[in-house]
Amino acid sequence: MKLGVCYYPEQWPSSRWATDAKLMVDAGITLVRIGEFAWSKMEPDMGNYQWDWLDEAIETLSNHQLSIILCTPTAAPPAWLIQQYSDILPVDQYGSRRRFGTRRHYCPNNPHFRLHTEKIAAEMAGRYGNDDRIVAWQIDNEFACYLPRCYCPLCVDTFQSWLEKKYQNLTNLNESWGTNFWSQTYTNWTQIEPPNLTVAEPNPSHKLDYYRFFSDTWVSYQQLQIDVLRQHITSKQKITHNIIASLTDIDYYQLAKSLDFISWDSYPTGYQENLAHLLEDTQTDTLMLASDLGHPDLTEFFHSLTRGFHKSPFWIMEQQTGQINWSSYNTGVNQGAIRLWTWQAFLSGAEAVVFFRWRASRSGLEQYHAGLRKHDGEADIGYNDLVNIKSDLELMDRISQDKSSRQVAILFDYNHLWALDLQPHRKGFSYLKLAFSYYYALRRLGYEVDIVAADSKLDVYKLVVAPTLVLGEKSLANRLSGYVKQGGTLLVGIRSGFKTETNLATDLPLPGVYSTLLGTKILAWQSLLPGLSYGLKTSLSINPLQASIWVECLKPLLNVESIIEYTSGSYSGYSALTRNKIGKGAAYHLGWYPSTAQLDGIIKMISEDSLLPSPESPPPGTSLFLRGNNHIYLNFTNQSIEIRKEDSIFTIAPRDVLVK
Ligand code: GAL
Ligand code: ZN
Repeated sequence: MKLGVCYYPEQWPSSRWATDAKLMVDAGITLVRIGEFAWSKMEPDMGNYQWDWLDEAIETLSNHQLSIILCTPTAAPPAWLIQQYSDILPVDQYGSRRRFGTRRHYCPNNPHFRLHTEKIAAEMAGRYGNDDRIVAWQIDNEFACYLPRCYCPLCVDTFQSWLEKKYQNLTNLNESWGTNFWSQTYTNWTQIEPPNLTVAEPNPSHKLDYYRFFSDTWVSYQQLQIDVLRQHITSKQKITHNIIASLTDIDYYQLAKSLDFISWDSYPTGYQENLAHLLEDTQTDTLMLASDLGHPDLTEFFHSLTRGFHKSPFWIMEQQTGQINWSSYNTGVNQGAIRLWTWQAFLSGAEAVVFFRWRASRSGLEQYHAGLRKHDGEADIGYNDLVNIKSDLELMDRISQDKSSRQVAILFDYNHLWALDLQPHRKGFSYLKLAFSYYYALRRLGYEVDIVAADSKLDVYKLVVAPTLVLGEKSLANRLSGYVKQGGTLLVGIRSGFKTETNLATDLPLPGVYSTLLGTKILAWQSLLPGLSYGLKTSLSINPLQASIWVECLKPLLNVESIIEYTSGSYSGYSALTRNKIGKGAAYHLGWYPSTAQLDGIIKMISEDSLLPSPESPPPGTSLFLRGNNHIYLNFTNQSIEIRKEDSIFTIAPRDVLVK
């Protein structure tokens, strides 16, 4: 496990660099990330490249045995470039061209921007690509942050070409989008505009394609940089990009493909505040949690999600170190938090944790954002935590000899996510929230969970959960059938099979292409008003025995068992959960939006059925990992927590880690 820090030498006098480097080393830091916003310092005017300062910064840091992660600075194009080519500035969904003055102010399809991107990347890679002090390259910074999609005239052209390539001819596009509805038929490619600024909500097929197009755009813009870097760099230098895993505008499985590893930026208190709606159904243990540690299951959800994007171990490229400045309350953070987050990242599979940032900034937007050192250069709480983390490193290394064996996976797919989120049909319905509720329930039962792409290798898992498969994909249905036949257990949730791949409603009986696999027919479905629910009947211990939010009336086909039935409402007597045994395995179909408490009972039943060993469940307020014979408990509360096992009792101290 390696520790690193994000450093901005361009923001501090060079006379301070050596002092900083020494303090970094004292704290156990071995990696420093630099350069991601320093374009105007690297190229103050067009073609006038200035590398002396960067040479000196690299020299100073590496004299202290620090290894460098060097970033291309394209997230912050300089004023001269924007003045020269003002159409680099992106156009937002309301049709406004944004201004210079912060960062990420560019359209990734703009040819001038792409050219200057190639130039700066080539200059940098030419200079530092064969330099052993540089161990990795970070491309740009957090694609899709702030403005996930641009709507400028160039993007319109590029979208039209993208569509032409995809559909070949307009008849095909018109059919695939169902443009007979409301007279939307296109007779020329140039008539197709992006799906913003329409009078009413646009055609969901049109909108889904714009999402796909823009996700592809980010992938292609990143590839532009990768191609340039690979021409110059040695194979010892690795290439990554730092994503925001909580943003869902890019298909990160695609983005990660041609990187050497993926990294993400983890700000636990920020995500807990901004994604509070995901946490609405997390039970009593949430009440116990310390207010400054984030929600452990939410943080781990994003760790697990990121782990699934690339086959090699991921990095945390930015780890929160104190208060942030972009959520609602920006809670203060107390001693122990940074250590706990580092352990959590490590146990979730992170190979390195890079802290954001070295020293709190005196200028610009982030003056209220903490670093490891305060504005005055003195240690802040994050730095003090590092002393303890440093002395944990040996233990972490020992623990990392034992690999975790995760037997449960959640399928997570961006196309399904976009399709569902474009038409949630019900206020508050979100793919991420639904997926998180399954993750949460599994985690609370003690399972360590992988989150994987629909096309990944499934036979390593005993249980695969698809919270929803809204798009009907025949190939996916076949793969899932194959998995089940060979002994896998599959649980599929609501709204599955409703749509085609181009986001039309299917004309097959629901659940469409998944019907044979699940052995069901959905006779009807409803969204239920808040407070309304249908009764349920089962011999299982499920609490409460009521279905709310979203209900589907399931009719089991021949030889398929009904496990739970509705007892009231218009679906009374029909099934709400079924089991279809095929080959050596079983596919379960769940017909309502389960609460996390109900999932607890359902998962217990399924794991007993499928002989999936049930792990020890973590005491409320803690997170639990199993490595070899070691149980590792992380206490996310401000109280001591007692654990009784067979005939021993032990205590996890507040905000502490215990290996037993
Ligand atoms: C990240 C970003 C950093 C910094 C940080 C503040 O999203 O990559 O540059 O702004 O947020 O929390
Ligand atoms: Zn654009």
